Amino acid sequence: MKAKAPALPRTVRRALGPHVLIRGDTLRVLRRMEAQSVDVVVTSPPYNLGLAYTSYRDRRTEDDYLDWMTEIGGEIARVMKPGGSFFLNIAGSSSQPWLPFELMVRLRTVFALQNHITWVKSIAIDDVTHGHFKPVNSHRFVNRNHEHVFHLTHQGDVRLARIAAGVPFTDKSNIVRRGHAQDRRCRGDTWFIPYETVQAKRQKFDHPGTFPVALPQACLALHGAGPGSVVLDPFMGTGTTLLAAELIGAHGIGIDCDLGYVRTACERLSAVIARE
Ligand SMILES: C[S@@+](CC[C@H](N)C(=O)[O-])C[C@H]1O[C@@H](n2cnc3c(N)ncnc32)[C@H](O)[C@@H]1O
Repeated sequence: MKAKAPALPRTVRRALGPHVLIRGDTLRVLRRMEAQSVDVVVTSPPYNLGLAYTSYRDRRTEDDYLDWMTEIGGEIARVMKPGGSFFLNIAGSSSQPWLPFELMVRLRTVFALQNHITWVKSIAIDDVTHGHFKPVNSHRFVNRNHEHVFHLTHQGDVRLARIAAGVPFTDKSNIVRRGHAQDRRCRGDTWFIPYETVQAKRQKFDHPGTFPVALPQACLALHGAGPGSVVLDPFMGTGTTLLAAELIGAHGIGIDCDLGYVRTACERLSAVIARE
């Protein structure tokens, strides 16, 4: 007899300042959202690695995972405004090295791949290492120090705030020599964003796969999001993207199937709102 699928959690909504946090299945929630209502989507879905999430079982067959994510991609395209951006953070693994690329091939029917950013979590420059990484104990594989951030848009023609989100010139003589109006250049497609050092699991909010707030901040800055922008994270986890939205006065919408993570997201967001 076929095993009965576990009941999906009931959808629960909580408003917090200009934000809405939703406990529910992302596909179901997305299907009910208004078309063309979101400016920027920043998210990191489960990577199908078998991570120990509290309620989600992170181990589907590869085809099932790709079908599921493609369906979610289609819904994201529907809710995204014509000039919107979708920043999709994902990584491969030694056991599934093709997965991010397979997913991009699937999403090709739905989106244009406008930029491909490499998020560097740790790097060795000469003999000095910066940032932290999980060491891989292997004769075959090197440590994985990076993840992908795919910047997907409807047509590949979204105008970005590349200079505003950029960095100052190191060699200031470039400013006059090249006729730049200001001391800023595009940051490029390689972002070094290390994790903060933590001593205990609690400081990572008892969640196995968070990203640092600087990552969604960089995505929102590149898109040029600001006060009043609508920012969606359909796999909100502990609410990191919503924190980044709050810090620029945007409206965040976060969805996660796990009630505990939604509670954590509410606590983190309340603390940021209270500090401001
Ligand atoms: C990689 S984590 C996101 C972490 C987040 N970026 C953060 O910084 O906390 C992926 C999240 O997706 C959630 N998730 C998995 N399947 C889901 C589904 N069907 N609907 C909603 N959320 C889901 C998991 O509970 C997990 O918190």
